[in-house]
Amino acid sequence: MIEELDFAQASEDDRRGLHEVVAAWAVESSPGREKPPYAASVARWEKRDELGFEPPRFVVARDGGKITGYAQVQVSEAEANAHLAIVTVVVLPEHRRRGIGTALLHAVPSLLNGQTVIESWSVVKGSASEPFAAARGFRVITSMTRQRLDVGEPPEAGELPPGYELVNWFGAAPEEFVEAYVQGLNAIADAPFGETSLDHAHNTVESIRQGEAVSDRWVVLLLHKGEVAGVTVVERNSAVPTVAEQLHTVVLPAHRGKGLGRLIKARMLHDLTGVERVFTRTSSDNEHMLRVNRSLGYIDLYTYMAVQAKTADLQP
Ligand SMILES: CC(C)(COP(=O)(O)OP(=O)(O)OC[C@H]1O[C@@H](n2cnc3c(N)ncnc32)[C@H](O)[C@@H]1OP(=O)(O)O)[C@@H](O)C(=O)NCCC(=O)NCCS
Repeated sequence: MIEELDFAQASEDDRRGLHEVVAAWAVESSPGREKPPYAASVARWEKRDELGFEPPRFVVARDGGKITGYAQVQVSEAEANAHLAIVTVVVLPEHRRRGIGTALLHAVPSLLNGQTVIESWSVVKGSASEPFAAARGFRVITSMTRQRLDVGEPPEAGELPPGYELVNWFGAAPEEFVEAYVQGLNAIADAPFGETSLDHAHNTVESIRQGEAVSDRWVVLLLHKGEVAGVTVVERNSAVPTVAEQLHTVVLPAHRGKGLGRLIKARMLHDLTGVERVFTRTSSDNEHMLRVNRSLGYIDLYTYMAVQAKTADLQP
């Protein structure tokens, strides 16, 4: 049985049921890893993500009332991403290969309002999702590398070349720097992300302020003669405060090749009070950023792919 589930209105049993499905997947993808806490799932499912996509809508599969799998769909109000739905399908390991994943995927269009393209950003290389996505007609559009840093003594940041200065903060961006911060983030548009149709570069002061209201972020902003030259952002995990996600890092084209990407990321590691572990993801084609991260102590965990299909092609 496949039916819609509104997470905000769902019973505690159903909320926990959804969490059990995603927790089983998390343990499966990183053997030896502890089950993630329930609060982490709730936090992720109740707020917008860092790209401004709305909290997910769900369809679930049940067996005797118990949730055995779900598809989640996230859409964005930003015009740049109005065509796109980000979808994730997860089925409990003991219920796989019975067509549940396919049935959930086919129910996805009922959750959409006009989005014509579907992307999934969590197809781990070598996992069941790879043949599943291929069997359902998705094509691979990019490949990403997941990395992890166990924070110890932060590395030396190094000297800033003349003409540059750093501004850093935790929480809300100071009013005088918020425009430069937005400009820096939007310069990520030319980072390699394969053939995705996802637009990462539609930040506005308003969208930044909305994000700041629901998440704790550290920012290091690099300025050159008062103009933005680079930026890097880390977000604290709202359920597990010792864990953080290194998000966007950008050095603007005119300032590349001077070691500034490493410098701002190294500088950032001095600011992360209370954080023991940092995760990040980078395009597998972005050799430069992967190398920078490894030089800071990040280790590669696994590769995952983004896949894409047209909504029209999903209709049964
Ligand atoms: C990917 C996933 C959702 C598939 O769910 P499922 O219910 O097993 O999928 P289906 O039974 O509908 O499989 C449909 C087809 O996909 C392919 N497929 C699925 N799993 C496969 C596997 N382990 N090996 C090879 N082919 C597989 C097959 O062609 C299958 O058809 P068949 O069983 O008739 O041969 C499930 O494996 C899962 O939850 N994985 C972890 C979550 C995840 O990685 N999600 C990311 C994708 S958004």
